[in-house]
Amino acid sequence: MLENTLINGDALNVMKKIGDNQIDAIYLDPPFYTQDIQKLTSRKNEEEYSFSDRWNCMDEYLEYMKLRLYECKRVLKETGSLFVHCDRNASHYLKVLLDQIFGISNFQSEIVWSYKRWSNSKKGLLNNHQIILFYSKSEDFKFNRIYTEYSETTNIDQILQERVRDEKGKSVYKCDQNGEVVFGKSKKGVPLSDVWDIPYLNPKAKERVGYPTQKPILLLEQIIKLVTDENDIVLDPFMGSGTTLVAAKMLNRRYIGIDISKKAVELAENRLESLIKTESHLLKKGKSAYMNLSENQINILKSIKATPVQRNSGIDGFLDEFVNDRPVSVKIQKEDETLEEAASKLYKSSKTKKCIYMILIRTHLDFIDTFEYSSYPNNLFIIDAYDLVIQDFFERQKGKNSVMAI
Ligand SMILES: C[S@@+](CC[C@H](N)C(=O)[O-])C[C@H]1O[C@@H](n2cnc3c(N)ncnc32)[C@H](O)[C@@H]1O
Repeated sequence: MLENTLINGDALNVMKKIGDNQIDAIYLDPPFYTQDIQKLTSRKNEEEYSFSDRWNCMDEYLEYMKLRLYECKRVLKETGSLFVHCDRNASHYLKVLLDQIFGISNFQSEIVWSYKRWSNSKKGLLNNHQIILFYSKSEDFKFNRIYTEYSETTNIDQILQERVRDEKGKSVYKCDQNGEVVFGKSKKGVPLSDVWDIPYLNPKAKERVGYPTQKPILLLEQIIKLVTDENDIVLDPFMGSGTTLVAAKMLNRRYIGIDISKKAVELAENRLESLIKTESHLLKKGKSAYMNLSENQINILKSIKATPVQRNSGIDGFLDEFVNDRPVSVKIQKEDETLEEAASKLYKSSKTKKCIYMILIRTHLDFIDTFEYSSYPNNLFIIDAYDLVIQDFFERQKGKNSVMAI
């Protein structure tokens, strides 16, 4: 058995050397039918990696995939599973092909890997997902349940109380003879869904090695945990930079990797020597940890047609309209900030963003007013929030009334 090895060669020829029913899980990330050459240079520009994804026609591509997918099925154990990574270019054709090879009844899920990547380049919707087709070899496949956290909108009763169906088949909270609600068993969370929010590797990610279309280790870890246990064997017949094998090794699984490119095999070997994984702060802390704007602040920003930005202590948003092709930054004074502190933060952050104007929304009056207007540039404007304007209006009215009373 070829376990814990990386082999240079065509996936088809190499898989022929593996016996029947040997592998617990296969993940493949083959060319996607992008009709392009995928190219990238390593971090320090030392090496260029590329692979061709050009085909004469869809039929040629599907025939190529068919031969290799049949081999995948043969080497899988009866309890094994296959994950085929693809995207909108050919996912629908591959689904039909896989239904024919594995049988429709063994289709388990169409996993949507969803991420955020910004680009304004083309007309139409931003493409922010890829597809992973999950098939088992038989109905007796290994499957480890993974639970995720309840969403912020989940009602506490939904978590704590047991549910039953009433006589009309409607799901209702279970009550005992005295009409008291019955608590359910301790809950583990919500079973993992088929939409996976996993960040795309950013250009500065530690685990990035400069291989074209390199996938995040987190994505592969989730797949491997789902259908294998420690010591099981994971195969990646199109391993590229070896992400699957790195994830497998980290999780104490055995692995086999294949790639037609010699450079890819060398790169994957190096990655396996010193395992490096990027911690996703977003996933660790949750999205809400990055939300530093309150609902009130977001409402103020929306009312002045500004787009809120999170994770910046100096700028809370930008006006939707640019002025002379340059952005206008906005900051809302925080409760614990003096006007001086807020202005200084806004000024510093806006300088690096080349903002033409800066707008600071004052939300309260400082106990001691130390703000020196003359020390700030004249493109920084201070505007009072509505409640401050109203408070000031009433103060003035009170003043007028007392004068009148005299
Ligand atoms: C999309 S990349 C894989 C990227 C990988 N998942 C990663 O995270 O780095 C596809 C890989 O398939 C390889 N490849 C293309 N045709 C192949 C074949 N017939 N047999 C084996 N590998 C092949 C390419 O060299 C390329 O490295």
